[in-house]
Amino acid sequence: MLRWFVTGAGGQLATAFAKILEGEVFLSGEATLDIRDADAVYAAVHGFAPDIVLHTAAYTDVDGAEADPALAEAVNVEGTRNVVKAVRGTHTTVVYFSTDYVFDGFKGSPYVESDPTHPLGVYARTKLAGEEEVLSWVRGLVVRTAWLFSDTGKNFVKTILAAAPHKAAAGEPLRVVEDQVGSPTYAGHLAAAVEEALRQGIAPGLYHMAGSGYCSWCELAREVVQLAGIDVEVIPITTAELGRPAPRPAFSALASERPVPRLPHWAAGVAEAVDRLIPLG
Ligand SMILES: NC(=O)c1ccc[n+]([C@@H]2O[C@H](COP(=O)([O-])OP(=O)(O)OC[C@H]3O[C@@H](n4cnc5c(N)ncnc54)[C@H](OP(=O)(O)O)[C@@H]3O)[C@@H](O)[C@H]2O)c1
Repeated sequence: MLRWFVTGAGGQLATAFAKILEGEVFLSGEATLDIRDADAVYAAVHGFAPDIVLHTAAYTDVDGAEADPALAEAVNVEGTRNVVKAVRGTHTTVVYFSTDYVFDGFKGSPYVESDPTHPLGVYARTKLAGEEEVLSWVRGLVVRTAWLFSDTGKNFVKTILAAAPHKAAAGEPLRVVEDQVGSPTYAGHLAAAVEEALRQGIAPGLYHMAGSGYCSWCELAREVVQLAGIDVEVIPITTAELGRPAPRPAFSALASERPVPRLPHWAAGVAEAVDRLIPLG
């Protein structure tokens, strides 16, 4: 029986793991374990003695990080360092979840693990620094993923499902960014693939694991409204028109050149999330 220690309880990915993990599971959320508190992290990890830490906790507000870089740094870099420090001298594997935003988006084809990184914003820089903390641990795994969505937490699919009926009722279109392309990833698919990889004894190191295929936010929104049966027009806009504070890569689809389980196509994940979010009948 494996012992799993999950940080970031209540978040999308932690929730997806909680649904599928078998064995002893310790779920820690910010209220019970703030990863910025090194002593508390050490005590909690040593108290539970996990085989595997699934370190999903992060400061994930990409635009918020531009306004509060110190907070993003404290959680994503120092918090991650605290997790790694807590397992040194043990046999515990640490899995850290990073982002497609470590790339600048100029490559023009899907990024693989050996591609050079060049983060554009504060969130991405702190997540990349967190990668280095984890890769300094001999049993550290970094899983880069992208555009996570699920039926819990805050995500794009839920935002579109919430906004679309109001727009439809008002006879207005949804305006969605067309000039950013990525690999939408259903948290349930990622959790299942990571769990499978760990049970198969995946080696430490860096991996890309995201939904297969890629699309723009605008295409993703169209898929959501179509699956949900909402009759609303989705109009493409540019990143510049949206005017968000954080810079984002224009093309950050992920692919892998390493032996990892492949995730289902992003559209299959959208179908599953929409099914869960829209009550039948
Ligand atoms: N979401 C994406 O599109 C995406 C894309 C690529 C990679 N990732 C990475 O994948 C991982 C999981 O993402 P997600 O979407 O599941 O994130 P999420 O839903 O935002 O969950 C993150 C969790 O971390 C918690 N947290 C924040 N600060 C903390 C602290 N100081 N101590 C302990 N917990 C803290 C949050 O608690 P509160 O809610 O109370 O703040 C939240 O429960 C993250 O590492 C993220 O960087 C996400």
